[in-house]
Amino acid sequence: MKFLYIFLLSCTFLVAEDFITKFEYAKMLYQNPRGIGCNKCHGDKGEGKNIVDYKDYDKKNKKYIKKSLIAPRINNLEFSKFKSSLKESRGIMPSYFLTDNEIASLYGYIQTFNKDKK
Ligand code: HEC
Repeated sequence: MKFLYIFLLSCTFLVAEDFITKFEYAKMLYQNPRGIGCNKCHGDKGEGKNIVDYKDYDKKNKKYIKKSLIAPRINNLEFSKFKSSLKESRGIMPSYFLTDNEIASLYGYIQTFNKDKK
């Protein structure tokens, strides 16, 4: 009887255990969604990143102005904001066609890097 119990218990563990953890899955999604990885622009921890510096010609003042293209910090957003940003089409950021589950996984993943909770 005891053996049967242990046997059944280990079976449930086998079923419950996914091949990869939720965290690993979300990390994979963050770095390799269907499209260019979020980390390429927003940084590995969603901390935000300067994508490129460039100069823009200001016709009025006839001189070049330094500008930079920045991917904002995304590990400290409300879920609703995070989700709507991914659903709407935007300027520089590519559009992704992620499911609600994928968006929730991504959100959970980058929230783990929001250490200072700001
Ligand atoms: C090519 C660079 C690039 C990639 C790749 C990218 N983003 Fe963005 N993201 C941006 C930029 C730039 C903005 C600022 C708004 C704009 O100009 O489009 C932005 C804005 C956002 C915002 C809104 C932030 C705010 O405060 O309004 C969220 C959320 C976001 N990105 C999440 C993601 C996620 C999740 C991924 C991967 C699935 C991703 N981004 C991939 C460049 C990128």
